[in-house]
Amino acid sequence: MSTTASDASEHAPRPSDPPPGAPEVIRTVGLTKVYPGGVTAVDRLDLVVGRGEIFGLLGPNGAGKTTTAGMLTTRVVPTSGSAHVGGVDVWAHPARAKELIGVVPQTNTLDRALTVRDNLYFHGRFFGMSRAVARRETDDLLERFKLTERAAMPVLALSGGMAQRLMVARAVMHRPSVLFLDEPTAGLDPQSRIAMWEILADLHVDGQTILLTTHYMEEADQLCDRLAIIDHGRVLALDTPEGLKRSTGIDTSVVVSAEGDLAALAALLDREIDGSTSARVLDGTVHLGVTGAEGVLPAVVQVAERGGFRVTDLSITEPTLETVFIDLTGKDLRE
Ligand SMILES: Nc1ncnc2c1ncn2[C@@H]1O[C@H](COP(=O)(O)OP(=O)(O)OP(=O)(O)O)[C@@H](O)[C@H]1O
Ligand SMILES: [Mg+2]
Repeated sequence: MSTTASDASEHAPRPSDPPPGAPEVIRTVGLTKVYPGGVTAVDRLDLVVGRGEIFGLLGPNGAGKTTTAGMLTTRVVPTSGSAHVGGVDVWAHPARAKELIGVVPQTNTLDRALTVRDNLYFHGRFFGMSRAVARRETDDLLERFKLTERAAMPVLALSGGMAQRLMVARAVMHRPSVLFLDEPTAGLDPQSRIAMWEILADLHVDGQTILLTTHYMEEADQLCDRLAIIDHGRVLALDTPEGLKRSTGIDTSVVVSAEGDLAALAALLDREIDGSTSARVLDGTVHLGVTGAEGVLPAVVQVAERGGFRVTDLSITEPTLETVFIDLTGKDLRE
C-alpha cells in the first residue's frame, strides 16, 4: 500500500495519500520496470494522485522519471505491478487509457509537416471532434496559449518556449483526466520557463490534474502540491514541498567556500558547530546543515580559522528541496 507505512495511527492522513475526499486519478502498485540488459529503472513504485493535484516526480538524470511517465501513458511496458489512470488499467485497456490522458513528452513531437494551427486541429479531429468543434477549440487554445499570431506558421518557426506551449495546448485539447508533462521546462530560457509555470498554474486553478517530472527543485517547489523524490527508480521521500523541507530537521543551510582540505573542514565544522546535523563536501564547497541559526556565521568563520582554514565565501539559506535531496542521498541533484 504505502511506502511510508506508519503503524502509529491508521486514520491519520499520510503524506503518501492524496487529499482526503479527492477521487483518485492515478494509482500504481508495485510498478516496476527492468529494461533488457538488467537496469531496474523503476523499482516497486506505489503512488496515488488525487483529482486536481499537481504531483511531481523530482530526481536526477536516470532516476526513472521518463520510464515512470512512460508506464502510465502506455509507452513503456511494465515488468511487474499495476498502473491505473482514471480507474482504467493502463495495460489491460491502453486505448481507453489514452482517451483519459494528455502527454507532453520530453522531446518535441509536433508534426513538422503541419502549421501551428493544424497541429491542434488534427489532434482534435483524431479525438473525434467535428470540423466545427475542432476549429473552435483550436482558435480558443491558440488564444489561451498566446500562439494566435503564429497560427499559420510551420512549427519549425517556433521558439523552444512556443513549441512547448503548443505541446501543452495539444495535450489538453481533448480535456484529459490527467496531464503528463515530462520535464516541461528543460532547456527553456528563464523567461519561457516562468511563462510555462504560469500556464501550468492556470491549468491547476481550472482543476486539471497534472503529473510532472522535473530535476529542477525550484519547479517542484513552486508548482507541486505533493512530490516524490526519486533516485535509482526508488521513492526516497514523498510529501508536500513544505513537509519535505521540514523533514530534514535542518532550518538553515550554510555553504562554506574555503582553501585547504574541505573534507577535514567539514568534519571540523560538524564537530564544533552547535546544532550541526550534517556536513558534506559538494561541488567544491562545504554544506553544513544546522538547527538553530543564531550566530552561526561568525562561529563558522571562527572555527574554520582556528583550524587553519581560510574562508573565501560564506552563504546561508533556508533548506530547499536540494537540501532534502542531499540529505537523503549524500549527493547533489545536478551531479
Ligand atoms: N530503452 C531503454 N533501454 C535500456 N535502459 C534504459 C532505457 N530507457 C532508459 N533506460 C535506463 O533506465 C534508467 C532510467 O531512465 P529514465 O529515462 O527513466 O530516467 P529519467 O529520470 O527520465 O532521466 P533524465 O533526467 O535523463 O530524463 C536509466 O538508467 C536509463 O539509462
Ligand atoms: Mg527523462
